[in-house]
Amino acid sequence: MRAELVIDELRIGWTEQMEIAESKAEWELLSWDDLQKMKYSWSVACEALRLLPPILGTFREAITNFAYEGYMIPKGMKFDKSRFQGQGPAPYSYVPFGGGPRMCPEKEYARFKILVFMHNVVTRFKWEMVFPDEKMIMDPVLIATKGLHIRLFPHQSSSS
Ligand code: HEM
Repeated sequence: MRAELVIDELRIGWTEQMEIAESKAEWELLSWDDLQKMKYSWSVACEALRLLPPILGTFREAITNFAYEGYMIPKGMKFDKSRFQGQGPAPYSYVPFGGGPRMCPEKEYARFKILVFMHNVVTRFKWEMVFPDEKMIMDPVLIATKGLHIRLFPHQSSSS
């Protein structure tokens, strides 16, 4: 995106806001109608949110089983590794590495690093949660309420 384009857009947004400001007394607060006039400003905000969304995704929990366009959405939500077993997920339904011809070329390198890390943590340490009954909440993405702290204990070496 050219910098002049951004400057032009800011200038038009400034004009829209100044027109609203000038139509009001200095002490007068913004009204609902004023907000309806900020069409250009809102389109700029929407485009900024599209390019850099503050939240990349969220979760919803189905409160009952239901079918939508041939997909069965089961009640509840759980960590379910089985979705990656067998046939795996349907194409383009899982895209952390992107998809198509520009898909992350280092996907396999990332897989190798993640698995080596997991191997070393699991074989060298056992761990316990600092807060064993810690709750996971949606706020609006999944987070652990106390930061999911764990204590690591080195396994006894078999040679010692
Ligand atoms: C868990 C680790 C990683 C994730 C989740 C990830 C994710 C992604 C995603 C979403 C894309 C965009 C794909 C698209 O446009 O469809 C991408 C592209 C790319 N990634 Fe990764 N990546 C990871 C690790 C790496 C590593 C370790 C490297 C390099 C050593 C790497 C190099 C690249 C490159 C060069 C592209 C651009 C590909 C292109 O435009 O043709 N990535 N990655």
